[in-house]
Amino acid sequence: MELTKEEDRLLAGEKGPRVQECMRILTALGDLYGAKRLVPVWSVQLSGISFKTMGLPGTEFLEEMAAETKFAVPTTINPAGYDVGGPGLVHPSPEFKEKQDRIVSALMKLGAIPTFSCTPYTTDFAPPRGAHLAWAESSAVIYANSVIGAYSNREGAPSALAAAVIGKTPDYGLHRPEGRRPEVIVDVDTSKGPMLYTVLGAYLGKMLGQRIPYFRGIRPDLDGLKEIGSTLSAWGAVPMFHVEGVTPGSEHYEVRGLERLQVDAPAVGEFQRCLGCNETPQLVAIGCPHCTKGELIQIAQTVKKKGRKLKPGTELWVCSNRQVIQETAPAVEILRQAGAKVIQDTCMVVAPLGEKFSTVAINSAKAAFYMNRKSFSGQKVVFDSTENLVDRYL
Ligand code: F3S
Repeated sequence: MELTKEEDRLLAGEKGPRVQECMRILTALGDLYGAKRLVPVWSVQLSGISFKTMGLPGTEFLEEMAAETKFAVPTTINPAGYDVGGPGLVHPSPEFKEKQDRIVSALMKLGAIPTFSCTPYTTDFAPPRGAHLAWAESSAVIYANSVIGAYSNREGAPSALAAAVIGKTPDYGLHRPEGRRPEVIVDVDTSKGPMLYTVLGAYLGKMLGQRIPYFRGIRPDLDGLKEIGSTLSAWGAVPMFHVEGVTPGSEHYEVRGLERLQVDAPAVGEFQRCLGCNETPQLVAIGCPHCTKGELIQIAQTVKKKGRKLKPGTELWVCSNRQVIQETAPAVEILRQAGAKVIQDTCMVVAPLGEKFSTVAINSAKAAFYMNRKSFSGQKVVFDSTENLVDRYL
């Protein structure tokens, strides 16, 4: 990779061993994937900042970084393990809280922006079309590439951290036009009934792996695009998708001759039945990825229309970020009146739910992907649409 004189000096250790380590990570990645240069990034999004995912070695590493360096570009961060800046609705153990607070204070010292959300594109830090990014949250990466028309690879924790310190990322993959081309056509047949976009993405993510699909036959709105992307990228490793006539630039791609897949509602519905069980949940959790303003208002309207209050013995969490919660105050009030907890800064997956919530009802196939894994959460999952969850548990 060709480096500028300044980059060469950073690699030689001019700004200390931590910055040098970051340059080594970026140049090693660039060499591995054939990048010709580093490209400046507009922002970085760090994921895995809950103590549940970071663990003690990660916490100590972050503290060492914070003692020596600072982020060079705006760096937003994923949900933490509890509602660190909220009214204390999530109750971690004192040990967990102490470790989580150490992570947060190291991040603040490094200069992170306290968004604590997997949907940075719903905040003041939404990137413009054409911006180069180094984002690590997979659902945000796919949204940025597909819906906003920004450019980001799916960064891992070390490469995102390195990009935040250096302010640059290797120019390969999704940063290049050739890395963004559709690879398979997906014809969605909606004539046999409706399907949930979150399940459609999960069903296809399993099949597609890393391949970029070009959807025909659907016209999702922004929240629908968010749902499809979040599960394509969790159940598979899809970094971007196109929807004919919907996503930016879809009209410029030549798709003749590509492999074709066909999907219909019965196939997606059958897959949906495998996502959960029939047990009674102690927690109903909505907002994976974090609710947008539109989603939060929609849930509040559904609750209001049905005139329901939460049944005793069940908690309802609606997870979103600070800014969205602040900007939807009337909807938040309706939800609170109905007995819901509107949760900021964390989510049902990265908070330690423990035995208190051994069965959780969710409307997100991304949350189902993680919560069903014994190694991650080990909760039992009840899966249904938002509307049906409100009907069943309120
Ligand atoms: Fe966001 Fe948590 Fe889901 S970080 S994407 S709400 S698993």
